[in-house]
Amino acid sequence: MTESTTKPTTTNTGTPVPSDNESLTAGTEGPILLHDHYLIEKLAQFNRERVPERIVHAKGAGAFGELVVTNDVSRFTKAALFQPGARTESLARFSTVAGEQGSPDTWRDPRGFAIKFYTPDGNYDLVGNNTPVFFIKDPIKFPDFIRSQKRLPDSGLRDHNMQWDFWTLRPETAHQVTWLMGDRGIPKTYRHMNGYGSHTYQWINAEGERFWVKYHFKTDQGQQHLTQAEADTLAGTDPDYHRQDLWDAIERGEFPSWTVYVQVMPVGEAANYRFNPFDLTKVWSKQDYPLIEVGTWTLNRNPRNYFVEIEQAAFEPSAIVPGIGYSPDKMLLGRVFAYADAHRYRIGTNYHQLPSNRPRAAEVNSYSKEGAMRYEFNAPEVPVYAPNSFGGPHADPAAAPEEAAWSFEPEQVRAGYLQHAEDSDWAQPGTLVREVFDDEQRDRLVSNVVGHVLGGVREPVLGRVFEYWKNVDPEIGKRIEEGVRAGSNGND
Ligand code: HEM
Repeated sequence: MTESTTKPTTTNTGTPVPSDNESLTAGTEGPILLHDHYLIEKLAQFNRERVPERIVHAKGAGAFGELVVTNDVSRFTKAALFQPGARTESLARFSTVAGEQGSPDTWRDPRGFAIKFYTPDGNYDLVGNNTPVFFIKDPIKFPDFIRSQKRLPDSGLRDHNMQWDFWTLRPETAHQVTWLMGDRGIPKTYRHMNGYGSHTYQWINAEGERFWVKYHFKTDQGQQHLTQAEADTLAGTDPDYHRQDLWDAIERGEFPSWTVYVQVMPVGEAANYRFNPFDLTKVWSKQDYPLIEVGTWTLNRNPRNYFVEIEQAAFEPSAIVPGIGYSPDKMLLGRVFAYADAHRYRIGTNYHQLPSNRPRAAEVNSYSKEGAMRYEFNAPEVPVYAPNSFGGPHADPAAAPEEAAWSFEPEQVRAGYLQHAEDSDWAQPGTLVREVFDDEQRDRLVSNVVGHVLGGVREPVLGRVFEYWKNVDPEIGKRIEEGVRAGSNGND
């Protein structure tokens, strides 16, 4: 832009400013004057440019897109976004979990796979990962688990000993750790990874019939990964590799897409299924519950402002819509509280007013009011309380999202999950290693674990690491122990 076509710079309140370059001083060598309010405004604004980073999933990338429903799944859900032919605008954010804002995209970590669907019945947020399971199954352990992944209190360093200490003390981590140490732990790009809702959700059809469902987003680009060595190099040469790749692909018009599937379990089958279907450390066998195609989800528009549209995006599993409900998955129920609470702290009480967070296809008629930065308000004649006699919005149980709709003993317990016939912390990771991975994937798993463990894991944790892997699979465990004892992961 040439000088002659630019508009005059103004202060935040719209007054033209006299200079973009020089502060107001008392003579050329005298002090800067405090009443240079424009200088003060610039420095003060700058000091406040950052909001706190997300406590987890701080580093990420995002884009906008659309879900198009190509199949008829209306027999399972009445949710508007899943009706035949529906097209729903959406926002995605992909992320690593443990690293901070500037951390390399290629660190080994699960990847966040968060989607906000702007549906006519309000926003629906599916806040998942690139793996179908998770490390733990009770939200009370989430802060401990995350602390073991973050940094030591004294040195501020990350510590593999702390990570394996937690993992080996909690055998339910084995399934997700096997995914993490395998190829899924470092996707080639965000375009080359699958996404999963991971939890079991509930779907409700127009007749009020209920189903348990799991979401699978399968990448149409093909699932690809980076080797540890490739990832290590990229961490130094191009720490924003995944953010750059997503941006560039969309700019080129090469829009990444995913085919969306669900597994559907009739509610009556849950009690006797061989695995507890609400345990987030377990998958449902695809032989038992085959994938049912729903549609295609495509990302086709980059943000125009990263901070406003992606950094301040607020995803929350509490954003659900009619036709969709929760399940007895304790992790999901914990998350229903945690996210909106995090947003109120990280962004502010009125975070839902921001462009990425406000509904785009639904109207807001809420009784929430005021708080810092509030600028949306109801018409003055709308009462600020309910119930009222003056035409304010009123709740409609028939239209509202389904609330917890399952039966349970009204007794207070801290008893974990009901054990189903084949529930064991070691069975599914063992199957993954033996029946899903091929020889090369098994070799990389061993090499990745050995390399990771050699990065500082000490006794008594070390002995438990060998036991942990022998429980997953005796042969893999033996190879890991031999590799660690020999001090090499085979890549030296
Ligand atoms: C982000 C809590 C488990 C996926 C976050 C954030 C919190 C949080 C506080 C930061 C939100 C923000 O500041 O914007 C929890 C708790 C969990 C849990 C308490 C367990 C009880 C999970 C699980 C998954 C997951 C099981 C995936 C299946 C994500 C994703 C993000 C995130 C994708 C980033 C969302 C974005 O891109 O903004 N989590 N989380 N979390 N979490 Fe969780």
